[in-house]
Amino acid sequence: MLKSLPAKLRSPNSFASRENGGRCLRFILVALAVSLPIAELGAASPTFNHDVAPIVYKNCSPCHRPGEAAPFSLLSFEDVSKKGKIIAKVTQSHVMPPWKAEPASFEYRDNRRLADHDIAILQEWVGGGMPEGNANEKPTPPHFESGWQLGEPDLIVEMPTGFHVPADGPDIYRNIPVALGITEDKWISAIDMKPSTRGVVHHVLYFGDPNGRAHLRPSQGGEPGFSGMVAGGATIHLGGWALGAQPHFFPEGLALHLPKNSDLVVQYHFHPTGKPEVEKSLVGLYFAKKAPDRRLTRVMLPPSYSLFSGLDIPAGEKDFVLRDSYTLPVAMDAIGVGAHAHNIASRMKMTATFPDGSVKTLLNITDWDFAWQDRYFFKDFVALPKGTKLDVDIHWDNSSGNVHNLSNPPIRVTWGEESKDEMGAVSVFGVAHEQGDLPMLEESMVARGKELARVKMATDPELRKKVLKMLTQ
Ligand code: HEC
Repeated sequence: MLKSLPAKLRSPNSFASRENGGRCLRFILVALAVSLPIAELGAASPTFNHDVAPIVYKNCSPCHRPGEAAPFSLLSFEDVSKKGKIIAKVTQSHVMPPWKAEPASFEYRDNRRLADHDIAILQEWVGGGMPEGNANEKPTPPHFESGWQLGEPDLIVEMPTGFHVPADGPDIYRNIPVALGITEDKWISAIDMKPSTRGVVHHVLYFGDPNGRAHLRPSQGGEPGFSGMVAGGATIHLGGWALGAQPHFFPEGLALHLPKNSDLVVQYHFHPTGKPEVEKSLVGLYFAKKAPDRRLTRVMLPPSYSLFSGLDIPAGEKDFVLRDSYTLPVAMDAIGVGAHAHNIASRMKMTATFPDGSVKTLLNITDWDFAWQDRYFFKDFVALPKGTKLDVDIHWDNSSGNVHNLSNPPIRVTWGEESKDEMGAVSVFGVAHEQGDLPMLEESMVARGKELARVKMATDPELRKKVLKMLTQ
C-alpha cells in the first residue's frame, strides 16, 4: 500500500514531524482510501496503457508531436518511456506543461496545469519501472486533424517573401505587411500563426491597417517590410503571439473589428539563433459569424509597458519593484489577464479591490519565464464594478543569482525593446459592462498615459532621447 503513495507522503518526515502521529497517520490513510481510484489501491502500479497514456495524450501530445513547438514527440510508449525520468521531474516542478499562472481567485479556462493526482501517477509509474501494461488496453494515439491548434482557419495568409535573419547580432523588430483581400467587414475571433522556423520568431504583434496601404510601402534594405515601433500607420491592435502561447477564441462571441480592405501588419521580434535563418510564416485568421454586442478593450498597468514608470534597475539589484494602481471609472466585465516582461523579471501580480473592500487575485506569476508567455482567460466573465481598484506589482531580479540574467556580471538595465532590456506590464482584457461607457474608460486611460508621459519626458532627458529615437527609427 505505502509503495503506491506519492513520494511526498512516503517521506518519513511528513509523519514523524507531527504530534499525535498515530492518529494523524490513520486519518491520512483513510482519506487516501476514499480519494484514490481503485487501480491505485491494488498492488499493481500504474501502467502506460491504463494510466499514463491518457494523461500524456491529453496534456502533452498537442505540443509534443511533429511540426509543433516541442523538441520531441510524446505519442507512444517508446517516446514516453525514453524520457520517463525527466518527465517525472518537469511535471512535479510544474515546468511542464507550461502554465505560469498560480491558482488565483477565479478559474481560468483551458488551464494546462496538471492535477496533483496526475502528477502522482507519473511519479509512481516512473518509480515503478515504467511498465507498458496490458496490450488489450493500449490506447490509440490522438489524431490531430490539421496543424492548427484551433482547427482550420477561415483565412490563411502567407507572408509575401521570406525574411533573412542573420546568425547573430541584435534582435530585429520588423513590420511586415500583407494584403488580406477582404472585401467586407470582418470580426476576428482568433488569430494563430505558424512560423516556418521555430526559435527565430520570439513574438509577434498583429495590427490591422484600415487604409489597406501598408503592403504598398517600399521594403527597406532588400528585405520585406520596414523597421520601427509604430507599425506604419496600422492602428488596429489585434493581439499577438509569443513562443509557447496557446491560441484562443475570445469567449462569448467577442471579436475584434477589422474593416473591409484592411491590410494585416505583422510586427515581428526576431531573435538570431546562431545560424542564418529565413522566416516566412503562415497566419491563420478565424472570423466570428456576426458582430459582437460589446467591444473588447484592455487596461494595462503600468501604461506603455512601464516606459514612463522609472524602470531603471541597478546591476546586482535582487528585488526591483514597480507598482501601479488604477481605479475603474466604469464597470467592466473581464475576460482574462496577461503579462509581458523580458528575461530578468521574477514575479508579478494583479489584484482587484472591490468597492466592498474585498481583495481578489486576478493573476499571480511567481516564477516568470520569458519563454512562456501566455494570456489567461477566465472561465466566466469576472465582473469588476465601477470603483474597483486594480493593483499591479512587478518584480525584477538583476542579480547574478538569476539564471535568466543575460549579463554576467549583471549590468544596469533600463527600458527597451531588445531582450537584454526590460519592460513590464500586466493587463486585464474585457468589455465595458455597458457598451456606452467604453469611451469614458478609454479616454480615462489615454489621459492617464499622456500625463505620465508628459511628466517623465519633461524631467528625464535620457528617456526623452530614447522615445524620440524610437519614433523616428
Ligand atoms: C504548450 C506546449 C507544450 C505542452 C502542452 C507540453 N510541452 Fe513539454 N515542451 C514544450 C517545449 C516547446 C519544450 C522545449 C523546451 C523549451 O523551449 O523551453 C518542451 C520541453 C519538454 C521537456 C524537456 C525539458 C528539458 O529540460 O529538457 C520535457 C521532458 C517535456 N517537455 C515534457 C512534457 C510533458 C510530460 C508534458 C505534458 C505533461 C508537456 N511537456 C507538455 C512544449 C510543451
